[in-house]
Order: sequence, then structure tokens, then C-alpha cells
Amino acid sequence: MVSAVIVAAGSGSRMQSNIPKPFLPLGKHIVLAYALQALQVASEIDEIIVVTRPEFLETVTDLKAKYDLSKLVPPVPGGATRLASVRIGIRTCSPNAGLILVHDAARPCLTQELIRDCLASARRFGSGVAAARAVDSLKSATDDGFVKASIDRSSVWMVQTPQVFRADLLRSAIGNVSDSDPAITDEASIAQVCGIPVRLVENRLPNPKLTTPGDIPLLSALLFHTDLYSPVSGNPNPKADS
Ligand code: CTP
Ligand code: MG
Repeated sequence: MVSAVIVAAGSGSRMQSNIPKPFLPLGKHIVLAYALQALQVASEIDEIIVVTRPEFLETVTDLKAKYDLSKLVPPVPGGATRLASVRIGIRTCSPNAGLILVHDAARPCLTQELIRDCLASARRFGSGVAAARAVDSLKSATDDGFVKASIDRSSVWMVQTPQVFRADLLRSAIGNVSDSDPAITDEASIAQVCGIPVRLVENRLPNPKLTTPGDIPLLSALLFHTDLYSPVSGNPNPKADS
């Protein structure tokens, strides 16, 4: 079986909002509802675990009935770092999970194609991590902003979520890293530390993570003023004003 973990236990400090990012409104729904609906619709996903702050456990539980989320299991309280929250999510997955998908609640542009492609890669190679090729010119620089060197863009990727791993690999790898290690920013970093090959899955659609207030109009434009994420592509994200 396949388990999906949505991490939604952050404080959203860069967003400067009292409400954490997964619970902010975006069109007709809260941010978290977009990924939840996409994972509910994805036929290969069997269970969805949401890791959230204790004061939002009830809010998440209420989403089950509101969106008819048969795959949603009772939410669990998260940890102090993203890695701690991922660890709790993985522990909560069914022991029968063969693959585990981890996704940031703050990324609402999750499509059926991307879920499918990441799962297919993980079935074949043990891992499937959403990523996009770097598009800008890249430089390394000193702390005070002077360019040291150019970086060859052709081999640079920007890594996103979802990130899917064979459950046995992810469970053993996460046992070898500490929650407070600043170098561990995602599941791919955990795998890298443990020598597990990380296979990138190219996502050609924008998949921004809601991070600062300026990302709200960006996400609204993508979701509600383009057809990129419409039900035609199998994604249930409804238009804001339909
Ligand atoms: N996350 C989590 N537990 C934490 C920290 C983060 O579950 N202790 C989740 C966030 O809710 C988010 C995802 O991990 O869905 C990506 O993290 P990020 O964008 O950094 O969100 P925050 O940590 O909430 O934001 P900030 O770093 O600005 O405080
Ligand atoms: Mg953070």
C-alpha cells in the first residue's frame, strides 16, 4: 500500500500571519485542502496522514467530512522542526506501507500527473522526488554579496515535494539523522546522507511553496486564472469564483 504524509505543523514565520500557512484561505478553500483533495483523488494513494500543530488537530479532523476524505486517518501533532514532523508522520504510516509520499501542505499546486510520476519513479528506482531545472543564471557569492563564481546551471535542480521513497529505505534512513541537523531540509537530504540514490522527477508546472505574503497572489493567479491545474488534468482544484 501507499501512504501519504502531509506536513502542516510549521509556524509560518516568514508569512508574518497569526494563522499558519496550511490554514490560510486561498480562494474558496484553506491551503491544506488543495493537497488533501489531490491525494484523495489519486487512485494509488491508500491513506493520508496530516501532521499538524496540536491546536489544529480538530480543524483537520473536521476536513474529513467537509471534503469527503475517506483516506484521511486521524491527524497527529507535529514536532519542532520539519524533520521532526516528517519523522512523526512516517511513524504513523501503516506498517503495510510499501511506499511513503511526503508533501508540504504549503504547496497547493499538486497535480495527479506529478503524484503518478513520483510514485512510478519510486517503484522503479526506490525514490521519486519532484524537481524543476534551474532557469536563472547561478552564482556563488560572499556573505556581503560579491560574486565569487558562476555555477553551471545545466546540472542544477530545484527540489520540491512530493517526495516518494520506498518505505523501508526511508524508515531506516531517518533513523540515522538528527532532528536538529540544519543540513536536512527535506527527505532527499535524509536519503543522501545515508547513501540512498535520489531520483529526480521533472515537474514542468510551477509548484511554488507558500512562503511569504507575496506568494498568495502568485498562487491565486496560477490556480484560478490558468487551466494548468484544472479538473481536465485530473486535479480537483476548483476555480475560486466558479
Ligand atoms: N512544517 C512542519 N513542522 C515544522 C516545520 C514545518 O510540519 N516544525 C511544514 C510546514 O507546515 C510546511 C512545510 O513543512 O507545510 C514546509 O515548511 P516551511 O515552508 O518552512 O513552513 P514553516 O516552517 O511553517 O514556515 P517558516 O519557515 O517561514 O516559519
Ligand atoms: Mg520552516
